[in-house]
Amino acid sequence: MTRSPRGISRRAFVRSAVAIGGASALAACVDRESNVDVPQPSVDPDDLPDRQHAWNDYLSQDEHGNHLPPEHHLLLHLEYVGDGPTDDERGQLEDALTTLERAYARGNDGLVFTIGYSPAYFDRFDEALPESVDLPHPEALVPIEDPEFDEYDALLHLASDYGQVVLSAEEALKGNREQLNDVEVEGTLEGILEIDERRTGFVGDGVPAEQQREDVRGIPDSEPVPEDAPMFMGFKSGFRKNQATEARVTIDEGPFAGGTTTHLSRIDLNLHQWYEQDSREQRVSKMFCPAHADEGRVEGAGHNLGDSSGVDDCGASAEEDARTRGVVGHTQKATRAREDDEPLILRRDFNSTDDDAAGVHFLAHQRSISAFVETKQTVTGTDLPSAVGSRNNNGILQYMSVLRRANYLVPPRRHRSLPTPNPS
Ligand code: HEM
Repeated sequence: MTRSPRGISRRAFVRSAVAIGGASALAACVDRESNVDVPQPSVDPDDLPDRQHAWNDYLSQDEHGNHLPPEHHLLLHLEYVGDGPTDDERGQLEDALTTLERAYARGNDGLVFTIGYSPAYFDRFDEALPESVDLPHPEALVPIEDPEFDEYDALLHLASDYGQVVLSAEEALKGNREQLNDVEVEGTLEGILEIDERRTGFVGDGVPAEQQREDVRGIPDSEPVPEDAPMFMGFKSGFRKNQATEARVTIDEGPFAGGTTTHLSRIDLNLHQWYEQDSREQRVSKMFCPAHADEGRVEGAGHNLGDSSGVDDCGASAEEDARTRGVVGHTQKATRAREDDEPLILRRDFNSTDDDAAGVHFLAHQRSISAFVETKQTVTGTDLPSAVGSRNNNGILQYMSVLRRANYLVPPRRHRSLPTPNPS
């Protein structure tokens, strides 16, 4: 880790700059990431896939073929402030989004992004969304939660390994830059979409350990998050074989064919008991399954598991483990929500210290929001014997609280700019 004279690592510094945002944070970030050469794209935007969520072919991979999410994430919550939406506004927004694609190669060292629209956005039209799109207003999904609901019109998710890329993109969208990575800025959000709220986060081996600070609620500074862990809870997530493919989460008919949906929840973590009282065996049991703990299958953060968490067989014993051992694993429960042996959701979640609280922005893509609801209900395990209680020893439920929920439609690229409910 490279440390500055004041003891803050470069990565931690850049991470705080992304959280703060704005021109000064960007300048500081550029200063710290001064040796970075951000690649321009080698393909014309017209030749990019129609799926906005087609990131996997462009993302870095580890030695097991698992896709590695970019390190820095920015969620811009947008309010529509225009007079239509009109075709002129659509053109302006399309120019703004295409500018990002002309400036940065799609990928970790460039930029990946998606824009999605909420049920509240579509409520302004007389027409309804077609039946091929399942996009309900967000609601509480299980009895043990009482979240609030986002009612923004749109969500822009920007991600890159470089803080300066997401911050520069944001400044360009706000109209504060003439050039982006040496490319002329041709459109902005001005007069169409206003940024009402920013949320930020990070993911990657060793990054959570660097973010573990005294002033961050929900995580003890006495017990370190393992150095090789990409997530605050200390384990790797997103194994290739435990993710839905991009094809599985793609809407396959109707005007939005090629699109997907986003479910976004804001989860607060409380990891004091997790790190201070639970043993390593308990943590492995609760995150994966009791059999993994018995057999010592998980080393460190679990990178040794390769391209699969290996819990496929544990799903069938979830009920028995709950009854006889009084504990059941998160992944063990989740693996029961599969179709053709494939999960229904593509998780692109990341850690956060927004509002100085350890948390997760749980962002998932799925063909229909009902696929998310089904997964969430299965992961909660309300069907399991009461031996696991409502939360205690029931996977990781006791360590997380869902504060907010939101649903969005992520149209295919051809309809990504202020779509009507039934674009031709
Ligand atoms: C603090 C929040 C969470 C953490 C730290 C977490 C962590 C993990 C980990 C470590 C795994 C196993 C490795 C892998 O990714 O393949 C996993 C699997 C999974 N999780 Fe979570 N998770 C969280 C929340 C959720 C939520 C809210 C849902 C859904 C509503 C969910 C759904 C799943 C699914 C579907 C799998 C894969 C199951 C399969 O293989 O079929 N997770 N999670």
